[in-house]
Amino acid sequence: MEPTRTQDIEVPLAKGNRCLAWQSAHNWKPPGKIELASPSIAADRAYQAVSQGTALLWQGDYHQARQILAAIKRRLDKKSQSFESTELPDRFHRIRLQRSQAARQAGLLLIAVQSGYAIDLARAPAAREALEMAYGDRLRDKDFVMPLTELAGVLSAYEWHCKGLPVKALGHSIYPRWGVFAPTRHEYLDLVMQAELPQQCKTAIDVGTGTGILAMLLAKRGIDRVVATDNHPAALACATDNVMRAKLSETIKVLHAELIPDGTFDLIVCNPPWLPGAASGPLEAAVYDPQHRMLRGFLGQVASKLTPTGQAWLILSDLAEHLKLRSHAELLAWIDQASLKVINRLDAKPAHRKLTDASDPLAKYRRAETTSLWQLQLSSSA
Ligand SMILES: C[S@@+](CC[C@H](N)C(=O)[O-])C[C@H]1O[C@@H](n2cnc3c(N)ncnc32)[C@H](O)[C@@H]1O
Repeated sequence: MEPTRTQDIEVPLAKGNRCLAWQSAHNWKPPGKIELASPSIAADRAYQAVSQGTALLWQGDYHQARQILAAIKRRLDKKSQSFESTELPDRFHRIRLQRSQAARQAGLLLIAVQSGYAIDLARAPAAREALEMAYGDRLRDKDFVMPLTELAGVLSAYEWHCKGLPVKALGHSIYPRWGVFAPTRHEYLDLVMQAELPQQCKTAIDVGTGTGILAMLLAKRGIDRVVATDNHPAALACATDNVMRAKLSETIKVLHAELIPDGTFDLIVCNPPWLPGAASGPLEAAVYDPQHRMLRGFLGQVASKLTPTGQAWLILSDLAEHLKLRSHAELLAWIDQASLKVINRLDAKPAHRKLTDASDPLAKYRRAETTSLWQLQLSSSA
């Protein structure tokens, strides 16, 4: 995933217009029209402005900005449709488009951030460390504007990073970061702990390691040498940090790589994005991937990177099948074309909040979802 580019936009300020940098992790285009908004703005007026594509640059108390944002979101939710009479997969595409348009509109409530990652608003949170972790030095010396929704995400991710996310299967916490997929769903972690390891298993690789969680579970299972790769810089920083905190740097080597680097491994593990589709920026790229590029690229490389008795463990949700975005037969064909055979499959039913979310028109499909760990071997092996 390409790092987000920075672009300048003309912003109206009390003292006249100024050029400020524009930040959007979703790669949203800078808004064409920006007005200043103060706490005296009525929620209906704010909603009307963002619905027409006008951005509102907040000028007052930070907490009041959060309240206006919540009011805008409630109005957007009320307007949303469930497209019940539309067949899958079109229904899914329409719901997704509607959600991304609503996120774009809610993202039109803007906050200005001064050089040094300071927010000059009454009751603004201390955001310097959180913004520093998210954007590094890219924006440190700039004045910029960003959606309040993104700022809220950066702050909440930093809170998680400071607190840590307890992982039962690991026996301790990991420290996620903004923009890196965090294992908030535990069922697939349990599958990695349950699956029978290949008879000889001295070397393993976790492809697309994110926080480093699967590599750390493989080390916990006693594998001496584990490589953890990712192609996203934030994931590499996050995994390196987690591996160091867990004192596993001797066992786990974190590497920047596209899919599987050179070498052969007794075990190759991958939990790729599970829904085919374009991702709008790094936040969505762990879930959406155009045409299952990573899944297919991974399967295409495995046979040449496995030791003769080695195994590949593919972790994959079947939500794409329930949404008619991909068929089960297609997945089996890709496995077969990759000169691999299925030797076992472990299944788990997800348990997460979205399953009971009455406002989610896709809850029915989420309840039907199964996450599987596919144990694959070279089709030529005995
Ligand atoms: C669904 S997340 C899984 C993260 C972690 N393994 C886990 O199970 O929590 C997919 C990960 O794959 C990474 N990724 C996507 N495409 C990749 C590629 N071509 N090469 C390496 N990593 C990739 C993403 O950056 C992301 O961290």
